[in-house]
Amino acid sequence: MSHEKIEKNVGLMAILIAVVISFGGLAEIVPLMYQAEAVKPLPGVKPYPPLELAGRDVYVREGCYNCHSQMIRTLRFETERYGHYSLAGESVYDRPFQWGSKRTGPDLARVGGRYSDDWHRVHLINPRDVVPESNMPGYPWLERRQIDAGEVVARMRVLRRLGDPYTDEDIDGAAAAVAGKTEMDALIAYLQSLGRHGPRTQ
Ligand code: HEC
Repeated sequence: MSHEKIEKNVGLMAILIAVVISFGGLAEIVPLMYQAEAVKPLPGVKPYPPLELAGRDVYVREGCYNCHSQMIRTLRFETERYGHYSLAGESVYDRPFQWGSKRTGPDLARVGGRYSDDWHRVHLINPRDVVPESNMPGYPWLERRQIDAGEVVARMRVLRRLGDPYTDEDIDGAAAAVAGKTEMDALIAYLQSLGRHGPRTQ
């Protein structure tokens, strides 16, 4: 087929362009599907317990990812500041993953345990109370909103269907685990869990 023929036929041109472009995607994506270690959890990495799972949903709903990544790159200035670089096996239960590259605020992949629960509470209500120069918005309403246990149970069921190894006991105990908790409690539990099961350098 001559070049001229392709260039004069818009439909054929579009199809051939799509085929050419998809090679790049295939070269990146297909090998990952055959790499067992990319989808296996690291030892100690488990599906989120109910309260942390609820907190993760608050994190996603509030758009914290617009300013915070959860992916430490393999660069020295990153690992010295944040800890060991992120590994694929740490985020196998993250749906959707929160890696990202937008960093108005610091990376949060290993923020768990860096501050007390009380610090997070004050910081999330009004960041400037603990970091005067902060431009992070406050989220005071999280203190006033209760976690909906039915929703957490439903989410765990869906995640189990997608392959997360939740047991019947995990799901049966979920309502009790989030009873009386606010969205603030859940978000703090989630933040405190970040990076705690990954490799540590500090
Ligand atoms: C408009 C951008 C922006 C948004 C949205 C945002 N943050 Fe921040 N965040 C920042 C900035 C800037 C800092 C650094 C100053 C500070 O500590 O307040 C920060 C700091 C933090 C820290 C301390 C990290 C450390 O290592 O010191 C935590 C934890 C945090 N944010 C959590 C959250 C959570 C959870 C949400 C969503 C509810 C959120 N942020 C939304 C900008 C943002």
